[in-house]
Amino acid sequence: MNHVLIGISGGIAAYKVCEVVSSLAKRGIEVRVIMTRSAAEFVTPLTFATLSRQPAYTDSDFWQPTNGRPLHIELAEWADVFLLAPVTANTLAKLAYGMADNLLTNTVLASTCPILFAPAMNTTMWLQPTVQENWGKLLKDARYTAIAPTDGILACDAVGTGRMAEPEIILEYLESFLFTKGKQDLKGKKILVNAGGTREFIDPVRFIGNPSTGKQGIAIAQAAIHRGAQVTLINTANSPLPMGERLGVRIVRTSAEMHQAMLEEFPNADITIAAAAVGDVRSKSTSDRKLPKSELPLNLELEYIPDIVADLAPHKRPDQILVGFAAQTGTEEEVVTAAKDKLKRKGLDAIAANAVNSSQTGFGTDTNQATFIDKNGNNLSTPLSSKLEIAHRLFDFLMQNFP
Ligand code: C5P
Repeated sequence: MNHVLIGISGGIAAYKVCEVVSSLAKRGIEVRVIMTRSAAEFVTPLTFATLSRQPAYTDSDFWQPTNGRPLHIELAEWADVFLLAPVTANTLAKLAYGMADNLLTNTVLASTCPILFAPAMNTTMWLQPTVQENWGKLLKDARYTAIAPTDGILACDAVGTGRMAEPEIILEYLESFLFTKGKQDLKGKKILVNAGGTREFIDPVRFIGNPSTGKQGIAIAQAAIHRGAQVTLINTANSPLPMGERLGVRIVRTSAEMHQAMLEEFPNADITIAAAAVGDVRSKSTSDRKLPKSELPLNLELEYIPDIVADLAPHKRPDQILVGFAAQTGTEEEVVTAAKDKLKRKGLDAIAANAVNSSQTGFGTDTNQATFIDKNGNNLSTPLSSKLEIAHRLFDFLMQNFP
């Protein structure tokens, strides 16, 4: 499943879709582009044809049969995912009322695949009651998944809502949809995820830490959002997140802050996934001022850090699912054995075991490999995949074993 059909309507954000098309084509994903008449005023069909290595279709192609069949039917049947970006107020209204007056809108009606749509317009236009009504109408349609516009400076120099989601966000959604076929099985669910490595400070400039970057935890949050969930992410890295709406973020630094945040958020969560690399030991004493080198203890007195997930487990309601991660060095067998032990010891429902001693898995990599094990003995080993795909495979495992 790797056919992405992209419908472009006439907004300046059309230029951002060049980046989307180019990235998809570079990844070997087949892309076809349909443009409305006004879209072609902003970016020429030649640009998209060159980037996608395919003709970019416009209304002048509408009645030209392809393989002896109407073009809109051919394209509609070809598509695995249909991305509409940008969606103007005009096209939004047509979609909301099932109109079909050009190649793009006809193809939408002829297609059955999931549709991702990313509106873009001036804030005043966006906030018109009629536009909001059309937007609300499409949000209720199970076939449509919205990539909501964000706040920012608009092409008309105004600052407000209406800016199309960045190409990075759109590309992450597409990656998810090509894997999940757009299923929204986490709709209405609240997911709590923690991510990144904690820092245990000795003084304001020195800490005991670990190399975790939080990439896997962030990918889990993203995957959950793409499947319709509302997500709370407790993150140790204050980096901008390519995610868009339905996400609440709390930034923490130490295990104690992480512990507090997790205790507060846990009662609201249906599924909690502890992907953070929380420290195991910290200095017994800490200083509020930077210690001169001469005052730094050469033998640091350490204490164990309380285990956060083990602390959450006894508060777990029967309707809640608590999942841990087990990052280990060693052979796959050793990693899985250690994970099974942690699953029991910490009172978890499931655990994701992954090796951190390979160049393609673990800390800071873009790919990962994991074995999922649940408390009933079900287990599943994933192939080496992107961290986003690992996240989807984890949700598939959880939805199958904890329906
Ligand atoms: O025992 P280990 O630290 O390897 O276990 C890893 C799992 O336990 C992860 O899910 C991690 O987020 C969680 N953990 C925790 N609190 C700690 C240490 C680990 O919640 N203090």
